[in-house]
Amino acid sequence: MSNYHIKHLEEYFQVYRKSVRDPESFWEEIAEEHFLWRKKWDKVLEWDFTKPEVRWFGGAQLNITENCLDRHLTTRGNKTAILFEPNDPSEPAQHISYSELHERVGRMANVLKSKGIGKGDRVCIYLPMIPELAVSVLACARIGAIHSVVFAGFSATALATRINDCDCKMLITSDGSYRGAKTIDLKGIVDKALEECPNLETVLVAKRIESDIHMEPGRDHWLQPLLDSAPTDCPAEVMEAEDPLFILYTSGSTGKPKGMVHSCAGYMIYAAYTFKNIFQYREKDVYWCTADIGWITGHSYIVYGPLANGATTLMFEGVPSFPDFGRFWEVVEKHKVNQFYTAPTAIRALAKENLEYVEKYDLSSLKVLGTVGEPINEEAWHWYNNNVGHKQSPIVDTWWQTETGGIMISPIPYVTPTTPTYATLPFIGIQPALMDENGVEIKGNQVSGRLCIKFPWPSMARTIWGNHARYRDTYFSAYENKYFTGDGAMRDAVGYYRITGRVDDVIIVSGHNLGTAPIEDSINEHPAVAESAIVGFPHDVKGNALYGFVILKETGETRNRENLYKEINQQITEQIGPIAKLDRILFVSGLPKTRSGKIMRRILRKIASGETGNLGDISTLLNPEVVQEIIEKAG
Ligand code: WTA
Repeated sequence: MSNYHIKHLEEYFQVYRKSVRDPESFWEEIAEEHFLWRKKWDKVLEWDFTKPEVRWFGGAQLNITENCLDRHLTTRGNKTAILFEPNDPSEPAQHISYSELHERVGRMANVLKSKGIGKGDRVCIYLPMIPELAVSVLACARIGAIHSVVFAGFSATALATRINDCDCKMLITSDGSYRGAKTIDLKGIVDKALEECPNLETVLVAKRIESDIHMEPGRDHWLQPLLDSAPTDCPAEVMEAEDPLFILYTSGSTGKPKGMVHSCAGYMIYAAYTFKNIFQYREKDVYWCTADIGWITGHSYIVYGPLANGATTLMFEGVPSFPDFGRFWEVVEKHKVNQFYTAPTAIRALAKENLEYVEKYDLSSLKVLGTVGEPINEEAWHWYNNNVGHKQSPIVDTWWQTETGGIMISPIPYVTPTTPTYATLPFIGIQPALMDENGVEIKGNQVSGRLCIKFPWPSMARTIWGNHARYRDTYFSAYENKYFTGDGAMRDAVGYYRITGRVDDVIIVSGHNLGTAPIEDSINEHPAVAESAIVGFPHDVKGNALYGFVILKETGETRNRENLYKEINQQITEQIGPIAKLDRILFVSGLPKTRSGKIMRRILRKIASGETGNLGDISTLLNPEVVQEIIEKAG
């Protein structure tokens, strides 16, 4: 019997040891007992990190949609697969059952085929969070087309770059989208992008908002009439285990975005297995991840992981602030959500608002709270724990990356005791290592270093689309025989990991390494502060000094800035040491963020250094307008 569902700490340690001692037989058991195959594998694992080349379940054949849909039809046909909650709370939610989803995916797959799409073709999906997005993703997988989902908040330039990089033949989009009180002219952005995409042949347009849009004759087609006349049954394409399932772009620290390529079998197994355990999903639960399917979190933990387990996965079209800041909690109450997975940036934004927005709702259905995307600061962790979980729901701080395909370091709720700001223990099968500056592994506890992974896991990305050399250089050349994550981490006395942030965010002040996260934590604990970011800027004596960009809470706005600055520095001095004091502080109304909510320190670093002439492309930011404000204030 495989250990598919881990229920207590002793079992975790026992299964973990097994997964490390004999990874092949461990993953083979999981694959054998919990997934549907057309043909079994010849070899569980072949790998070589120097090339790098990793093959899981070589020789096996399968289709991921048979695992996510077909095999549930007899036992869960009427169970809700996707629970769609629209942007506008007065629009009814939709309960899409497994049978209905199976049919809708079949129809869509037949439409794709009728437009000449087949195995291996790339299809770009640029859709808001409506059911057609999940259906399109699965329809591609059904026929073996490689989906490349581009987050529908990206600009025309960003979309065009991604379409061209992997040479997509087709684009699936919508006439427009809702975002809180606004509507967005998605098709207008598409038309602009496609001026730069000569090889794209076909555009399928779903209708979401009633707007008058341009339809290019010969190229653009309304989706609904095609679906209406398509047969519901579409046989699944038989895929090799290592065939690409999808491409997903992630930005590098430099250069153009990297199209991470994920494979069929390994990705499926790891996304499903982590989902089951890290959210402790039980048959009747309603699970909600607030991410967008345009990010890896949405791929693995809205679509594939939940559906492979026959779960009910909630898809939310809206934003946390519409119609007011209670929306998340209203949805939790309305659908009796059991597992809720969001990002620290959302938690911090909501924590800034009146507590009544949370207190108004009955959140007693919640059993597990998750966070992902960046280190969660202590204040946000406690706010989440106290006000959302009422100290009853464990928080799983899940560390992972687009490249890793699934969660790598995380507590298992009700199994691993949690500690604020700690991602805690490696998940089953994951072998982390901390490395020093000289490339030597740092053993033992109470140490910190650069986080690497020293053994393959099933859902690791296999390459960067069209650029295997960049894949090798970025991830496998810094440390011999190891995957380098780009993150720094510490391991405490009991072996728990705390991710300290990107190693490129480390600032060396007077020869001391300072991570941005702990200093920001300290600043954020000041009662007048809502959020902050620090960067280094050149200093004659210290090499680097610290520059803080600080957003005040409403209550802080009336305070004297000079006094606040002193108090903040006093607090840093007390919590970290005088070395971490800020040399400059700027009170701002917002911080430049990526669409996934990460602070763009690169831009802040340039502003702090006075190099505002060359900020690079800021068009893909969530809030490009704050950049000008910060430049002006910085003088
Ligand atoms: C950061 C998101 C601390 C980290 C799934 C990583 C985190 C990058 C955490 C990947 C966490 C993600 N604690 N840092 N729980 N989760 N990160 O590719 O720096 O969008 O390398 O994948 O986010 O971001 P990506």
